[in-house]
Amino acid sequence: MYKILLKQDLVPNIHLFKVEAPAVAKKVQPGEFVVIRIDEKGERIPLTVADWDREEGSITIVFMEVGTTTRRLALLEAGDFITNLVGPLGLPAHIARFGTVVCVGGCYGIAAMMPIARAMKEAGNKVISVIEARSKYLLFWEDELKRVSDQLIVTTGDGSYAPQGWIPDQLKQIFEGGEKADLIFAIGCTYMMKLASETSKPFGIKTIVHLNSIMVDGTGMCGCCRVSVGGETKFACVDGPEFDGHQVDWDVLLSRQSGYQDLEIQSLQEWESRNWRRTR
Ligand SMILES: Cc1cc2nc3c(=O)[nH]c(=O)nc-3n(C[C@H](O)[C@H](O)[C@H](O)COP(=O)(O)OP(=O)(O)OC[C@H]3O[C@@H](n4cnc5c(N)ncnc54)[C@H](O)[C@@H]3O)c2cc1C
Ligand code: FES
Repeated sequence: MYKILLKQDLVPNIHLFKVEAPAVAKKVQPGEFVVIRIDEKGERIPLTVADWDREEGSITIVFMEVGTTTRRLALLEAGDFITNLVGPLGLPAHIARFGTVVCVGGCYGIAAMMPIARAMKEAGNKVISVIEARSKYLLFWEDELKRVSDQLIVTTGDGSYAPQGWIPDQLKQIFEGGEKADLIFAIGCTYMMKLASETSKPFGIKTIVHLNSIMVDGTGMCGCCRVSVGGETKFACVDGPEFDGHQVDWDVLLSRQSGYQDLEIQSLQEWESRNWRRTR
């Protein structure tokens, strides 16, 4: 059992848990994830480790409510327990001195990007962080990212804060403005990572994406997370989750991700009708 030490509602649909997990905290590296199960009948879901405290023996996860499990997770409070938590899983982010690294994050990826941006800065890179949200009220961790970046660029889809636009608009401006980026690192929704990769391709800038294919065991056994990269089949959980965004077959990924959509909607509707008193 893994105790939730702290809960913060970062924005209405994105929440932070600090969880007591000493064995994971001891070893975790930027870019790695855990697989959690709320209770014995719960489904397994992967979540990136957004921060950790090795001395305290805790890890921080930040999750967005998108379906039944993340809705159920959001109802837990500090003092509650998560039944299973396995990790750290996946290959750690490749951190080195590249030169100028553009760290891109949207939705939960703003938090998931944080340890990578921090490690890139510590490795001696110039770090430009670019984050997006649909609207101002959905933005979080601006100050945290500012602390680990040489420059932070914020953009909102509705223009309620910072320039109106999305990450690809900002990337284009950076490259057309003459900034020589050596590497782009993107985490967030699949569509954003696809567009970021398409934007950087004509400029010839290597773009690493943190793929979020559907996972079950997270250890290379079920084959559920397979993705096509450079014409080869890879398992995102053990061969990734980081891959070259210019080599990813985005159509295959998007289609596999939506393969269970009807069942996911049905599951959420059934859970909400059974638990309507508990939902907000
Ligand atoms: C390596 C990795 C790291 C991730 N890190 C984070 C994170 O830090 N924060 C965060 O909010 N989300 C993260 N995700 C996505 C997160 O796992 C899904 O949003 C979550 O599983 C949705 O479950 P649900 O029951 O709430 O929604 P559902 O209604 O079941 O699904 C909604 C959508 O989420 C995706 N999804 C569903 N089940 C899974 C699954 N078992 N594995 C992966 N995707 C799934 C599908 O695309 C689906 O259409 C990560 C995914 C991966 C693969
Ligand atoms: S999640 Fe099962 S093989 Fe990757």
